[in-house]
Amino acid sequence: MTAFTVRAPASSANLGPGFDSLGLSVPLYTTLRITPGNVTEVIPLGPELEGTPADESNYVYQAMLLVAKRTGLTLPPARVEITTDVPLARGLGSSAAALVAGIVAANELLGNPLDMDAVLDVAAREEGHPDNVAPALFGGIVVATLDKLGTHYVRLDPPVNLGVTVLIPDFELSTSKARAVLPREYSRADAVHALSHAALLAAALSQGRLDLLRHAMQDYIHQIWRAPLVPGLSDILEDAWRHGALGAALSGAGPTVLCFHDTRESTAPLHTYLSGVMKKNGLDGRVMDFPIDTQGTLIERDGLIEREG
Ligand code: HSE
Repeated sequence: MTAFTVRAPASSANLGPGFDSLGLSVPLYTTLRITPGNVTEVIPLGPELEGTPADESNYVYQAMLLVAKRTGLTLPPARVEITTDVPLARGLGSSAAALVAGIVAANELLGNPLDMDAVLDVAAREEGHPDNVAPALFGGIVVATLDKLGTHYVRLDPPVNLGVTVLIPDFELSTSKARAVLPREYSRADAVHALSHAALLAAALSQGRLDLLRHAMQDYIHQIWRAPLVPGLSDILEDAWRHGALGAALSGAGPTVLCFHDTRESTAPLHTYLSGVMKKNGLDGRVMDFPIDTQGTLIERDGLIEREG
């Protein structure tokens, strides 16, 4: 077998009320170069991956082993080079990109015993929720559920003219820490608020109703509990619309904050506002605009791109 490359994108999960169920794909990538050979080598490259294990305990290789476990097949030896431009522990799905890239690479090495629905199910079960892994695999915007019966999803093409602006602070926040602050139980009123807003958001995104995003993105399930961990978040959720945002949300478990924008409008006022919030809170970080990635995970071999999603 010849060498091949797998590229999996970053993602932004929840989008407000779609906790653990809604996400979109962001064009920053984790890339694996897989070269079949006589021995297995795991080689993380570049500054983002400094300090990550350079052996089979690496998370990417552990993800590859999940395919062997699911199928009962043995992974052939290969050199696995890993690079990424997804910032780690910032709420942009770096672990989901690594997981999906590893699973897709192992599936390819083994001759594709798993179809894409099974690849998603392996990834979602490992991560515990499908909202990052589904958009990382399929691209676009994905609504997904994970339960005893499996992982079910609908992929949406992003509405035209919808772009994202992300504020990526220069500090890390682990998902486990950001999940530990959430209550164990919610009232019926909170449940109804969440499911109605998540349903409205999914419907608005599928119909291109950009005018509804700001209202539909209201959330009382996770953002209010996480706000003390992310200085400036409450201000942005309340005020970003005044500076051109179509809606705002904590990206995944944070600390990145995501705003939607209309690509026909300048995002300069939004950048100025978000940079001002960071300054006010003594934070460093980056504010960046992206289109929503629509390709998901790709495999490239001999210059030919095979679409995976
Ligand atoms: N839905 C998850 C959370 C995403 O908010 O905890 C974390 O990656």
